[in-house]
Amino acid sequence: MSFSLSQAFKPARARFAGAAVAAPRVLASSSARLYWSTKSAFSPQDIHNVSHGPDHIQSKMSSNKQLRNANRFREFDLEGRVFAITGGGRGLGLSMGEALIEAGAKVYALDRLETPHPDFIAAQEKSATEYGGTLEYIRIDVRNNTEVNNTFAAIAAQNERLDGLIAAAGINHLQSALEHSQQALDNVMTINYNGVFNSATAAARQMFNYQVKGSILLVASMSGVIANKGMTSPVYNSSKAAVIQLARSLAMEWGRHGIRVNSLCPGHIITPMVEEVFQQNPAARATWEAENMLGRLAMPEEFRGAALFSLSDASSFMTGSTMLIDGGHTAW
Ligand SMILES: NC(=O)c1ccc[n+]([C@@H]2O[C@H](COP(=O)([O-])OP(=O)(O)OC[C@H]3O[C@@H](n4cnc5c(N)ncnc54)[C@H](O)[C@@H]3O)[C@@H](O)[C@H]2O)c1
Repeated sequence: MSFSLSQAFKPARARFAGAAVAAPRVLASSSARLYWSTKSAFSPQDIHNVSHGPDHIQSKMSSNKQLRNANRFREFDLEGRVFAITGGGRGLGLSMGEALIEAGAKVYALDRLETPHPDFIAAQEKSATEYGGTLEYIRIDVRNNTEVNNTFAAIAAQNERLDGLIAAAGINHLQSALEHSQQALDNVMTINYNGVFNSATAAARQMFNYQVKGSILLVASMSGVIANKGMTSPVYNSSKAAVIQLARSLAMEWGRHGIRVNSLCPGHIITPMVEEVFQQNPAARATWEAENMLGRLAMPEEFRGAALFSLSDASSFMTGSTMLIDGGHTAW
């Protein structure tokens, strides 16, 4: 799919990402005029004014009564918002997706699995009966840039918006550097790096197109900042370092347009990916447990809060950040 910036900045439709967005205004700065030459209801300045203006998320909380009712922490509310999660068919991506659904969002899980994990079906049923959010599955391979762009365009067109992305699709490969095959090197890099790049750019295109102030969370790993003991995976580790740096770079490019980009660096989590590692190297479990300050591995559900925080208005001043959540693994 060919794409140009001039196409991206054509205001397709003025959309607001949520209640915290301030009233429409005409842009004043010259750089902003570059992108919104006509009078637009959307202004990247609005988000910068949130913390000082009368519409600040906390200043609206006028009484204790309000604090006790359903408006409590409404900056976490995702009702009416639309998100895509790559790798959402199982594991960490699915758990984070469930958190967004619980907050009222519509979530599209994009994964290459022929059929998603049984946990996905359970989450889908629960979303319909208990939360009012929705969960849909679309089979894609994040390496295929055309497919990724078309999928994100279709999701955005169907909903006339796209509010966020969690790029969680990834693979691990345990092999020493000198024995690493070229094929495995390509495989890890094209999924863990190119796939994340494809997904983030496809999501941002739709955010520009529908003028939504979106949030993008790239799932890296603590292995992107350390060479972690008991896991010989030089290519995986460096692919995750590249993801951390990509998040910073995209945050710099898109921040003034209201799109935030952050990375998440989890420690070891018990997911299907890690269970495969334990099959190959059963001793890894004890080593990993001993290497963090809590003396245990994480469950995927322990990242629900991070997902909700980073994809909602609760994190409106966070961009270019690296969220390290690892039970203290990298802190000693
Ligand atoms: N489990 C951990 O300990 C851990 C720690 C740090 C970071 N991570 C990262 O978290 C993310 C999720 O991992 P997980 O542990 O849930 O693993 P997982 O294997 O359970 O889930 C990853 C998902 O990504 C999908 N996927 C892989 N290649 C794909 C492709 N080309 N196109 C589309 N989908 C693809 C898989 O089908 C799978 O459903 C990964 O990026 C991983 O590197 C995991």
